[in-house]
Amino acid sequence: MKKILDLITEEMRQAFTKAGYDPKYAAVTLSNRPDLCEYQCNGALAAAREYKKAPVMIAKDCLEALSGNRLFSMAEAVPPGFINLKIEDGYLAGYLNEMAASEKFGLEETKEPETVIVDYGGANVAKPLHVGHLRPAIIGESIKRIGKYMGHHMMGDVHLGDWGLQIGLIITEMKRRRPELPYFDENYTGEYPTEPPFTLSQLSEIYPAASASSKEDPAYREEALLATRQLQQGRRGYRSLWQHILNVSIPDIKRIYDSLNVSFELWKKESDVDSYIPGMVEDMKAKGVAYLDEGALIVDVKEETDTKEVPPCIILKSDGSALYATTDIATILEREALYSPDKIIYVVDKRQEMHFVQVFRCCRKAGIVDEHTKLQFVGFGTMNGKDGKPFKTRDGGVMKLEDLLDEISREMYRKIMENHEADEAEARKTAAIVGLSALKYGDLSNQASKDYIFDIDRFTSFEGNTGPYILYTIVRIKSILNKYDREGGKGKETLLAPKSGSEKALMLVLTQFAPVLESAYEENAPHKICSFIYELANNFNRFYHETKIMGEEDQEKQASWIALLRLTKGILETCISLLGFEAPEKM
Ligand code: ARG
Repeated sequence: MKKILDLITEEMRQAFTKAGYDPKYAAVTLSNRPDLCEYQCNGALAAAREYKKAPVMIAKDCLEALSGNRLFSMAEAVPPGFINLKIEDGYLAGYLNEMAASEKFGLEETKEPETVIVDYGGANVAKPLHVGHLRPAIIGESIKRIGKYMGHHMMGDVHLGDWGLQIGLIITEMKRRRPELPYFDENYTGEYPTEPPFTLSQLSEIYPAASASSKEDPAYREEALLATRQLQQGRRGYRSLWQHILNVSIPDIKRIYDSLNVSFELWKKESDVDSYIPGMVEDMKAKGVAYLDEGALIVDVKEETDTKEVPPCIILKSDGSALYATTDIATILEREALYSPDKIIYVVDKRQEMHFVQVFRCCRKAGIVDEHTKLQFVGFGTMNGKDGKPFKTRDGGVMKLEDLLDEISREMYRKIMENHEADEAEARKTAAIVGLSALKYGDLSNQASKDYIFDIDRFTSFEGNTGPYILYTIVRIKSILNKYDREGGKGKETLLAPKSGSEKALMLVLTQFAPVLESAYEENAPHKICSFIYELANNFNRFYHETKIMGEEDQEKQASWIALLRLTKGILETCISLLGFEAPEKM
């Protein structure tokens, strides 16, 4: 379906042309003075220069040419030369009926589907998921869902961290604790045990202990670095221990992502690209892109126009081990080879921006991606506590993601029980669903790049710009529709021209669905969907408070409102599913 602004602009273009002006001036936008009009065209002001004529005269000429059209109920020229417009009520209702009948509420899927990989996991095996992993999961999942809805071929990749120092640290700690295990005996040639030498909870204690020791003791750190290198170089015992770490850790990581309603098409790991590294390095050397500098293999990536220093990208350390950039570059190589993506989007902490500048430039320079492959970095800001500092547990530690989810569910449960009596099991289930909306909406309603304050009280509130408020609105609509259906409402469900200002306002917001989604996709900006549904929910609630829907005696009028409610519900539900949460039946 054509977007309403395009239809209006088309009408305006004809009027401009007919009046003898260049139609390029005819662009119509949403009004920034909703008290005066719904749409406006400011083109006469710009045209004045070309035609050396007062803008208001031009506006009047165009309006004359417009007269008799069926789109506008009001079209007037106001000084200094604006054209203010209101859309004709019946036309608007007709447009909405068409939206309601179309599969995606009038949104046209892309005609050129792209293959897009979204890299938005980044959990590290053997380390518990913490709040730092929350934002990429929430934002990335939403970007992926929006792209899918637009008709693109989207793939999420979790890109687990499993090839770095954290593994070397665990190996070192295990070696100190249990030196008798065969993994550490270099002369051992037998099979290694199939049972892991640790449980999940032991593993989650081992990493922090190792990390603390390496900070205190340089020799410990050296040993861990050596173990990391030997793991990468293929030392059998270490590979076997590493495999145990993966086996124990990955199911737990999956479980936590599941509880966030986040899923990945690709469960790739840094280590998966290990086999690409030697060839990649040879190629970079052969092309003269990479060279040795004090034993390390590096690629210069600075450019003349840089305003800040972009250090060279280190591909191999002087001891031959791979670094974070190495696996990221090799991963791009693998993605090119396996999926030839049109675009790769990285949803990663904005403090890693320089790393990605280096990696992207290095890939272009080495010819790993061609110029058409878009590489985008969506850097997100920090989630802070109420004190404005990075979010911590009460005792100042790193908050585990699971604990955070529990806390928000508990708070939601308390609020639900406070509101009304409810069956406990039922309320707990609802609390988990609504709690997730509180968390996700609280995050997504901010522009990703901004820091924000995690305020559990505000996020879980049923009022204001929150997830629970949106869900509350949906539940309210559901309950009216259920009642209507139960009572056997039988009018013809066709939207009629709006009967009130609040009804028309609601209708106008609904027409924004497709344009909002398109720009949310183009700009990797789920927050635009949040602003849209907040406005939609506000407009719906205003309409609802002013309108006695169930008490209406005119069946046709009532059924027209029911149609409006169904459309509003459909759009709200679609939007929240694109944000990655859902509404309960009751609240
Ligand atoms: N594992 C990394 C970390 O915890 C994040 C990975 C982000 N993605 C990437 N392709 N580098 O910092």
